[in-house]
Amino acid sequence: MKIGLLGMGTIGSGVFEIAQKLDGIEVKKVLEKRFQADYITDKIEDITTDPEIELVVETMGGLHPAYEFASEVLKNGKHFVTANKLLVSAYGEELTALAHEKGVAFLYGAACGGGIAYLANLKIAREIDRVTALGGILNGTTNYILDSMQSRDMDYAQALSEAQALGYAERDPSSDVDGLDTQRKLILASSVGFDAYIKPEDIPTRGISAVKMADVTYARAHNLVIRLCARAERNAEGAISAYVEPTLVAANAPEAAILVNVNYAWYSGESYGLMSYIGQGAGKLPTAANVLRDVQSVSAGARYMTSENCKRVQPDNSAACHPYYIRIADASAIPAEWIARSEVLDGETCIETVPVSVQEMHNLMANHKDAFFAGIQRG
Ligand code: HSE
Repeated sequence: MKIGLLGMGTIGSGVFEIAQKLDGIEVKKVLEKRFQADYITDKIEDITTDPEIELVVETMGGLHPAYEFASEVLKNGKHFVTANKLLVSAYGEELTALAHEKGVAFLYGAACGGGIAYLANLKIAREIDRVTALGGILNGTTNYILDSMQSRDMDYAQALSEAQALGYAERDPSSDVDGLDTQRKLILASSVGFDAYIKPEDIPTRGISAVKMADVTYARAHNLVIRLCARAERNAEGAISAYVEPTLVAANAPEAAILVNVNYAWYSGESYGLMSYIGQGAGKLPTAANVLRDVQSVSAGARYMTSENCKRVQPDNSAACHPYYIRIADASAIPAEWIARSEVLDGETCIETVPVSVQEMHNLMANHKDAFFAGIQRG
């Protein structure tokens, strides 16, 4: 199969490199402005109108012009494979509909989980089982920061700059540390696992930018470990809850064993039970390998990540309840009836709450950006 490649950055060059070694896949043209070679063009039309190119891989990242290019590719009747979670979380519904209309493939297996074959297996699970919950540690940068603070007593800023130097962080690392990268991946996983499109603004999302060593000290003293976790759950009636928040997990929980930038993605199905996947959620070759797995799947006949019945769903996070940890300067901001216990650490109050709804907690803490809060998952 002859393919076109949009973007020759980190992942694109990985795709190019691995494709050289594969039989049956030839990268015929690459859209790239920065370099010159006989296979490189700076005009998208050279790819979208080339009758020999059957499939286009997008590894440019960003929303624009990736969205316009994706639409052009599909309108020209070519299969489309992308690793761009921003594109899919914003336009996945529309692009899937366009792909269905044109009878071509649209796959995004590498856009959540990087090198981990998570979405591909989740898709199979949805097709033969009822997936009831999914989530995990889906961002390497924040896991690297949290692990460095907890295993190496490193401060937040230093850990973030190490993660950036190692190439894990997004161009704008605020999307990592504020939980938005994780949120986008949860949208993709929910589309595949539940056949449900969820809007970003409907997912309560809190990142780790407020975490301090005081939180690490508290977690250690209580035999807990801080991780940034995504979770979406579907009840028997089909209502979905979905949220992203720091979580204090038991020191012997699987999440606590996920170190440095490694990702941990899981789903639970009525027949399968709990299935989990651990691996590189980012990086040139792991992500490129997963992109090429999608290309091979298209060759083998795969077409879509979601079914034609995939619907837009508004999550309800009022029924999802659990205890929380909160560190806050002004403890009077927390309703007294929520407080199960509290102690003062470094001049701030550390609180453990009774079970509180995810929606209520996120609503309250939206007004307290300097405070750190985390769900508590003891067992
Ligand atoms: N910045 C992302 C991460 C890259 O740290 O996981 C992969 O999506």
